[in-house]
Amino acid sequence: MASPPRRVSSPLLYSLPSLLFHASPIYPSSFFSRFLSSSSSMAPQEAAAAASVTQKTDEAAPRKNRVTVVGSGNWGSVAAKLIASNTIRLPSFHDEVRMWVFEETLPSGEKLTDAINTRNENVKYLPGIKLGKNVVADPDLVNAVTGANMLVFVTPHQFMEGICKRLAGKISGDVEAISLIKGMEVKMEGPCMISKLITDQLGVNSCVLMGANIANEIALEKFSEATVGYRENKEIAEKWVQLFSTSYFIVSPVQDVEGVELCGTLKNVVAIAAGFVDGLDMGNNTKAAIMRIGLREMKAFSKMLFSSVKDSTFFESCGVADLITTCLGGRNRKVAEAFAKSGGKRSFDELEAEMLQGQKLQGVSTAKEVYEVLSHRGWLQFFPLFATVHEICIGTLPPSAIVEHSERTPK
Ligand SMILES: NC(=O)c1ccc[n+]([C@@H]2O[C@H](COP(=O)([O-])OP(=O)(O)OC[C@H]3O[C@@H](n4cnc5c(N)ncnc54)[C@H](O)[C@@H]3O)[C@@H](O)[C@H]2O)c1
Repeated sequence: MASPPRRVSSPLLYSLPSLLFHASPIYPSSFFSRFLSSSSSMAPQEAAAAASVTQKTDEAAPRKNRVTVVGSGNWGSVAAKLIASNTIRLPSFHDEVRMWVFEETLPSGEKLTDAINTRNENVKYLPGIKLGKNVVADPDLVNAVTGANMLVFVTPHQFMEGICKRLAGKISGDVEAISLIKGMEVKMEGPCMISKLITDQLGVNSCVLMGANIANEIALEKFSEATVGYRENKEIAEKWVQLFSTSYFIVSPVQDVEGVELCGTLKNVVAIAAGFVDGLDMGNNTKAAIMRIGLREMKAFSKMLFSSVKDSTFFESCGVADLITTCLGGRNRKVAEAFAKSGGKRSFDELEAEMLQGQKLQGVSTAKEVYEVLSHRGWLQFFPLFATVHEICIGTLPPSAIVEHSERTPK
């Protein structure tokens, strides 16, 4: 029997709430998670604690859930690791987690799928981290999803349309999906969020999971939080919370799919702006100003697109927390910094290939997609930061324009 989570009951710490925001290695993350609850009525930390003490028994639910992760990049591999650590303990899930791999041949000549299955490690996208022996890599997309009733989509957003086309008609209607993908598709009729693309093309309900989640940090089991956005069915949201929650990964449900997904998508545009500021050595005050303006535009854009988006969503992990972590440490910020340092002379494609070893940037394509929506709807003047980021990315404006143009306060 697993022992219950440790509790720390120092009265001094209880009286110093500000300390809670500095996770110290002295205290277990379960301690901090007790204080960092969301506004939601569900207590995700309790779900995590329950998950940590639940043992596999023979009292299985009538139908065990079978999970497939569609995607095996940096975050996809970490998601598979998180999920596999839970399916192996929770009686309502099959142990095995299948992970679809976009097949690649490694410099050694070995197939990536074989390397993952032999070493239990994604040697290209998450080297040095064991995924769990119950993660099985599969290069055949249709085979990987066959029999699964819970599908986790986690690929760069530009590949999702093709993936959905290949899966259309092959997924039964009672399957539940969740998207961890940050980005959107822009179509003639307007913007289409990835969760909607999944629902429209596969005919299944889709939740989303977003948050302040730099994959490599979660792979090392450092404490962090995430938000599940759901539409109506809270039971489904609770199932996803249970599947992802661990003692170091605290997941909260919020009934606002579009708000959660747009936060995760739009913060990558602000991260590009933050990278320009870093590349131009403009300092922390300027970066904070860009983050504030960016957050304001994220909220306005989301609410102008979907009136159902809630203000409170921007205070969840998917909102302000993800914005901060991405502007401080993410890959979009890093590549944008290099772009600004080159004076805009080196292209994002070239820098992405050189700096990210096969990982994909999302911010530049999202900035273009947002720009298309803004021009199409006549909203460009309301979003000076979003518009300026795209114009810098395509070379119409120099990187220094980020501060000259961003704070043209919209009417
Ligand atoms: N990495 C992170 O820290 C992080 C955190 C949160 C969310 N996300 C989001 O998760 C999603 C997936 O990102 P990631 O970090 O797992 O991926 P990644 O950028 O690390 O890797 C790229 C992936 O795309 C695959 N790929 C390449 N060409 C392809 C094609 N033609 N068709 C299909 N797949 C192809 C590669 O095999 C690889 O698995 C993105 O939307 C990203 O914004 C990433």
